[in-house]
Amino acid sequence: MTERPTSPPEPQPVSGTVTRSAIFLVATVRDDPAAHANVRGWCADVGAYVRAVGKRVPSGNLSCVVGFSDNAWGRLFGDPRPAELHPFREFGAGKRHAPATPGDLLLHIRAEQMDLCFELATLLLNKLGDAVTVVDEVHGFRYFDMRAMIGFVDGTENPEGQEALEFTVMGDEDPEFAGGSYVLVQKYLHDMAGWNALPVEAQERIIGRTKLSDVELDDGVKPSWSHSALTTLEEDGKEIKILRDNMPFGRPGSAEFGTYFIGYARSPRPIEQMLENMFVGRPPGNYDRLLDFSNAVTGGLFFVPSVPMLEALAEREAPLAEAGPESIRTLIDTPPTSTPVVDVTVSSLISPSPAPADGSLQIGSLKGVSQA
Ligand code: HEM
Repeated sequence: MTERPTSPPEPQPVSGTVTRSAIFLVATVRDDPAAHANVRGWCADVGAYVRAVGKRVPSGNLSCVVGFSDNAWGRLFGDPRPAELHPFREFGAGKRHAPATPGDLLLHIRAEQMDLCFELATLLLNKLGDAVTVVDEVHGFRYFDMRAMIGFVDGTENPEGQEALEFTVMGDEDPEFAGGSYVLVQKYLHDMAGWNALPVEAQERIIGRTKLSDVELDDGVKPSWSHSALTTLEEDGKEIKILRDNMPFGRPGSAEFGTYFIGYARSPRPIEQMLENMFVGRPPGNYDRLLDFSNAVTGGLFFVPSVPMLEALAEREAPLAEAGPESIRTLIDTPPTSTPVVDVTVSSLISPSPAPADGSLQIGSLKGVSQA
């Protein structure tokens, strides 16, 4: 008899259906034991709230993904920690800057209708109560035929189906966290007057695709500084993809026009490499011209545990630091392990360990992820 392949625990709906509406919530967790206990307990309730709201409109495709920052994971759950979880790494050169901003908890709520997102966000936040403070809330909408705020179709080159799972869901590279993902978010504001003043051909060279028909420009025409060229990564002749579900948002009355970028992957490295290529340039100086018209105003990196792990987090003991004076003394004697956030301009800083000689992104084997 052949052995059944082992598959990782059920992932949260990271590669859920693309929907017409989304709410992105980033919150900080109050720093005291009662608040921490409240958030831990809440982890077991998320699924029940999604079912309660979603069942009322079965065609609404309501889903919610929950992620925790490095800082939150340490304070709420302690060890073990996801191996590649670290504070958001800032990138920048010249006028371009991808800043890190506060945030312990990320909620990515998606549905066909905004009322479903709104209801779920309200219930989940009510349950969290004063244990959290929402520091950023964005209500995103799908613009015409899947277009970004800048008028180009967004999401075309996303992996789909099994390929999407292979690129986003961890397998055996960090076994205790199998079924998990990393997610990076950034809020961008656009200079729409400047962008719209460009001829369409110039916009197309910046994105690397045609505007109306969404066809990739031929290699001979597509500049090496186009958005699509700089966000295309290859390792050993194989393309390394991430899964995006960006949403336009804005308030015309306040001249606010934005894109909420959200990227999922099974390691933060490919997303960070794309950010370095965009902000610093590949090679340095050959940067993404989309950034001449787009300003990143937030940035956060989060770990998304599998569904069973999210539920089990509710049962976790408080980390040692909350357990008593003896444990606190031990922690004080232990040097900190978190990575300081600094501006970087070289790829060697992408990895906390020295960059491998073969230039590999070392995102781990893509084998071992077999989900329907
Ligand atoms: C200002 C915010 C952004 C906007 C408006 C934007 C828009 C777009 C558009 C219109 C495309 C072409 C269609 C497609 O394949 O989806 C695209 C492609 C892509 N973008 Fe972005 N994007 C933004 C930020 C980012 C960031 C921050 C990253 C990564 C860190 C990223 C990664 C990608 C990738 C991987 C592709 C596919 C490239 C390919 O395979 O051709 N984007 N983006």
